[in-house]
Parts: sequence; structure tokens; C-alpha cells
Amino acid sequence: MIGVCDSGLGGILLLAQIHKDYPLTDILFHGDSEHMPYGNKTIDELRVIFADIVKTFKDRGCTDIVIACNTLCSIVDFSKDYGIKIHDIIAPTVEQIEVLKSKKIVVFQTTMTKKCRRYEKELIKSGYEHVELIDLPFLAQDIERFTAKDVLKTKLLPVFAKVDTDDLGAVVLGCTHYPVVKDIFQEYFKVPIYDSNHLSYNLDPKSENGKISLMMPRSSDLDRFMREFGKVEYCYEEDRLSI
Ligand code: DGL
Repeated sequence: MIGVCDSGLGGILLLAQIHKDYPLTDILFHGDSEHMPYGNKTIDELRVIFADIVKTFKDRGCTDIVIACNTLCSIVDFSKDYGIKIHDIIAPTVEQIEVLKSKKIVVFQTTMTKKCRRYEKELIKSGYEHVELIDLPFLAQDIERFTAKDVLKTKLLPVFAKVDTDDLGAVVLGCTHYPVVKDIFQEYFKVPIYDSNHLSYNLDPKSENGKISLMMPRSSDLDRFMREFGKVEYCYEEDRLSI
């Protein structure tokens, strides 16, 4: 079984891709909406949250953890031995970018992801020198609350207007919630937009039943989101435990 985690529903987009790549592997998705937004927490708070997530996945017998959350990937020490394989999202997202190295790359992200500057470091490692990091402290939570798109647009457009688009080569959505409203970004920025929805991971899959269990509070909004964006068969963890 693979463990996939995020502060909420954003990581479900990547979960769907992992399921496509490993259809016979069970996936346990930890959507920690109780502690969201991660992006506005401190590093110490996030480390405690992550230690709990690792313990949960290990106790459940997962072989791998895919951290479908840029904020957690910004604070996790990947050189540490957690006793389970941990997979990053930031470096593979940057590796997908295919625009001229002289172009400017703008990365939208949470406040903590911006503070840690991992995107900047990875982009510079890949040869990009002109990088702008912009945090959107409200956006992940608004998406988690299913805020109407026109309201989000009203909040985002003044932020977009401050971006100097001369020589802009690409925009990166450096938070797994943001692709849910990618069309708002794409309508404004007429350049390629990269996100983490279609990353492929080298996992060690077991042949299981391909079952997807959500560790998240059941809600009709989430069911609607799963139909529109997840597009996978799933059950809630409480149902799984009672089977
Ligand atoms: N979706 C997460 C990320 O990629 C976290 C958003 C949040 O809880 O602030 O950073």
C-alpha cells in the first residue's frame, strides 16, 4: 500500500495519477483538513504533523509515502531515515519545465513554501536564474472550502497584476490545491503552466486490489470533488475499517 498525504483535497489530483500508474496497488490518502492550512504554520508545527503522518502510514503497513504537498516537502529532511521510503514533489515538478533557461519563472505557493525557497533552489540548480516566488496565503483554504470561482478571481487578479510578465517563460503552481483553479491562472498568464498532477514515481508496487481509501471527513462536497477531479473509485477509511 502507498500512503499519499496533503493538508486536504489538493493531493487527490496526484493520487489519481499514482492510481493510473499503479492500478493494482492500494492507496491510503491522508487529507489532513483538520490542520490545514499547512502553509501558515511554523516549521516546528509541521514537523510534528509530519511525524504523525509517517507513524500512521507505517502502522498501516505502507511501503512508500508520496508527499503530495509542497509545504511539507519544503520542511522535510529527505536525507533522514524514516524507516519508510519518502517521495518528494518539488524536484520532480521542476524537472518537467521545458522553457528557455533565460526566461523568467514565476512560482505561486504557500507562505511556508516561499519562506523555505526550495523552488528557487531547484530552479537555479536546473539553470533558471530569473525566478519570482509569490505566496497566496488564502488560496489553499479557499479551495478547500469550495469558494466560488468568481470570488477567487477577484482575490487573485490584483496579485497577478503586480507580476511583470516581460520575458515570462512559465508559471508553476507550487501548491497541490492550486491546479483545481488552473483555468484562472491560464486565462491571465499566456505561458505554459506547470503543476504536480502528472508526476510519475518509481514506487515498489505490490499487487493488491487497487483500493483507494480516504482518511478525510465524509462530505457531499468532497464526493462532488471526487467525481469532478478525482475520477477514481474510492471509499472512506471508516467504511474500510468496518468491512
Ligand atoms: N496543498 C499543500 C501544498 O501543496 C498545502 C496547502 C496548505 O495547507 O496551506 O503546499
